Amino acid sequence: MDFERAQKRIRELTGIIEKHNYNYYVLAKPVISDYEYDMLMKELIELEERYPELADINSPTQRVGGQVTKDFPVVRHKYPMLSLGNTYSKKELQDFDNRVRKVIGDGFEYVCELKYDGVAIGLVYENGQLVRAVTRGDGFRGDDVTNNVRTIKSVPLRLFDSGNVPDELEARGEIFMPHKSFLQLNEAKISNNEPPFANPRNAAAGSLKLQESKIAALRKLDCFIYKVLGEYLPADNHYDNLQSAKKWGFKISEFTEKCDNLDQVYKYIGYWEKERKSLDFDIDGVVIKINSDKQQEKLGYTAKSPRWAIAYKFPTQQAYTRLLDVKYQVGRTGVVTPVAVLQPVQLSGTTVKRASLYNADRIKQLQLHINDMVVVEKGGEIIPKIVDVDITERDDDAQPVSFATRCDECNTPLVRKEGEALHYCPNKKECPPQILAKIEHFISRKAMNIESLGQGRTEILIKNGLVKNIADLYDLKYEQIYGLEKSIVNELEGTSKKISFRKKTVENILNALEKSKSVPFERVLYALGIRYVGETVAKRITPHFSSIDKLMNSSFEQLLEVPEIGEKIAKSIILFFQDKDNIDIINRLRNKGLQFETGKKEISTGLFEGKVFVISGVFGKYSRQELKTLIENNGGKVTGSVSSNTDYLLAGDNMGPEKRRKAVELDVRIINESEFEDLLKDI
Ligand code: IVH
Repeated sequence: MDFERAQKRIRELTGIIEKHNYNYYVLAKPVISDYEYDMLMKELIELEERYPELADINSPTQRVGGQVTKDFPVVRHKYPMLSLGNTYSKKELQDFDNRVRKVIGDGFEYVCELKYDGVAIGLVYENGQLVRAVTRGDGFRGDDVTNNVRTIKSVPLRLFDSGNVPDELEARGEIFMPHKSFLQLNEAKISNNEPPFANPRNAAAGSLKLQESKIAALRKLDCFIYKVLGEYLPADNHYDNLQSAKKWGFKISEFTEKCDNLDQVYKYIGYWEKERKSLDFDIDGVVIKINSDKQQEKLGYTAKSPRWAIAYKFPTQQAYTRLLDVKYQVGRTGVVTPVAVLQPVQLSGTTVKRASLYNADRIKQLQLHINDMVVVEKGGEIIPKIVDVDITERDDDAQPVSFATRCDECNTPLVRKEGEALHYCPNKKECPPQILAKIEHFISRKAMNIESLGQGRTEILIKNGLVKNIADLYDLKYEQIYGLEKSIVNELEGTSKKISFRKKTVENILNALEKSKSVPFERVLYALGIRYVGETVAKRITPHFSSIDKLMNSSFEQLLEVPEIGEKIAKSIILFFQDKDNIDIINRLRNKGLQFETGKKEISTGLFEGKVFVISGVFGKYSRQELKTLIENNGGKVTGSVSSNTDYLLAGDNMGPEKRRKAVELDVRIINESEFEDLLKDI
């Protein structure tokens, strides 16, 4: 492709990909498959690699990050970033309403919005392009965090030109971490022996200040815009300008509402005070704004905040109770998390009996003593936490909480590596919660799918000494488990239920175990629970190593050749196979008939050297990723669209008619899956 055509195609692809980003990340309504999206992206990456002079800092390919920021430059805000006056009471809202009426009379409209609990950001656009993203700082000057913000998919890098984008504008909003991303991040931190973040807000703030934007890109941050600033905005009111911003590509909350009076505002507040728990992100209140720009101007500002807006903050839900004990929970990887056992107390509609204490440093920071009276808080956060200790209530002979030296569950001495925040129990093979967590992972739906063993049943098997590891599951006999039972108490709900192994249950379990023997290798690999080998990594491994033996015998360097496998994962795989007990378990599972190879071809030759393939549709035997790897391992190339350079169109079911038409027109050879396998026979 010559320079001019490449330039045209890059522009075209950028536009298409941006539209798909918008559909996916802003509207949450994707219209193409992940595969089709990946193909478009791949084509763009290749073109930019071939013509680096055409690559743009705001290209969608830049979202993966790469830039490193050593010190974040401090920049001045064009418009100061003010804060909001806060209130916790309806009475003060009434006062606010009175003040407003005094200045502008009765003819006005409110806009009610959620108050997102994240990090404020100013996004500066010039000629429709993102040029800067700046944190609030002291309100006048903030940190330039553009490299990291560029990786947030819901922040547009270029605005859609719908005819009315001003040449210069600033979008103000809140960067936040959705609960799902937060939980994932903390899980990863814990299994990495790193201290978890206390809440999604801290996680978002920390992510924005990461020096490596590549890591920020993995944090799955999100951003809502709540204000547009500029001299030539299309409308003369806040609400309509937000609607324009949505058309330009920004993510706007669907829950913003216009209200005519305070009663409607109270309704909005009441609704969200209850419903906040249904959101996938934290809010800490509601923001009430005057809609009209003119009226906003008339109301003006105090030194710190606008007089045309106010934040109604939900009361922080706190309770005062006694710390009875500290227990230590052990996770799948042996990480020990301290948990406060509290005198049960009512907090926002639930009885709280436990609170997270994170790690030893947190206990030290709080200087906790057993029997202390403590303040427990449940903000937007998912888990209640201890925020304060009332030392005036402490007995003279109170015992300070000192972190356990032995595992609560198996009495093994705990270890804490030099410089690390977390303790862990090294007794991987005998510590009951570690065994339980490993088995629960193994039987989970995405792994071996033996869920009939879930809901407390595995625990019963472990307690009865019937299973100590995943291989023991396949030795279970009907007579051994029929009739076992146990009452499981749900402390939180104050209920208990009986779990028993009745005839039907036992039959289901044994059937599911039998059926699991045909679960494909990639899922078995995931089920083994090798640290850092999640579902995606397992899927990446199997096209390269078609059997467990090949994987087991691979060197560190060979593992690194697999896309997405870095040093950390490679090390973990090597370590796993160095453990003789793991090999014994694999051999036992293999003898029981579990799948430890793909049964598919895995070869590396120059057979397809210089050949260009396009893959389209769905295939019976191979996934598209596997086909792609096969082609690439054998020297071929895979591109996203049919052109005169294409040698083969590898056609599956439901392939795009346009691709077929083009292939026919350009006389490109169309082959199906089995014809493709025939080509491989030549090797
Ligand atoms: S408007 C000049 N709207 O709350 C007023 N702020 O103290 C600009 N916040 O950290 C703020 N949700 O980032 C506004 N819907 C919303 C908001 C919101 C969250 C944050 C803001 C700032 C704080 C205000």
